[in-house]
Amino acid sequence: MTDNVSADGSVMMDELFREAEKAAVFAYAPYSKFRVGAALLAGDGTVFSGCNVENRSLGLTICAERSAVVQAVSKGCRSFKALAVSTPDSASPVGPCGACRQVLSEFMPPEVPVRFGGGGPDRVDTTIGELYPYDSLHELAER
Ligand code: THU
Repeated sequence: MTDNVSADGSVMMDELFREAEKAAVFAYAPYSKFRVGAALLAGDGTVFSGCNVENRSLGLTICAERSAVVQAVSKGCRSFKALAVSTPDSASPVGPCGACRQVLSEFMPPEVPVRFGGGGPDRVDTTIGELYPYDSLHELAER
């Protein structure tokens, strides 16, 4: 994503949400049939995306948000400006699960904007701090 795009927050989030929608196409979700795509905007404008990857054990399933974090950190990126999550199989927006909120907060200050939306037109615009308030371990985070 280009820097001029990020000058306007809403355009930036629109574009990032489209990246999350594109990532959801690759979801491996044969058990839940619930596809999720996540897109993380890095400080330099790079977008890292991820999808949910399920497993027949069910417990080993990896959520889209953590999949995107792993993609980014594996490429040396640990700092993010925004997150978008798409859940095309729900009409309404579905937010990140509790485990993902914990992991995301490792690499994001509370003010980082988050948008999530389903297949319908509704979108939720919030921040990681609103999604994960009263982070009892914040003093241990390396960010
Ligand atoms: N899922 C995500 O990818 N992210 C979330 O934050 C919530 C749940 C996935 C896990 C599983 O593959 C499917 O959605 C149904 O729970």
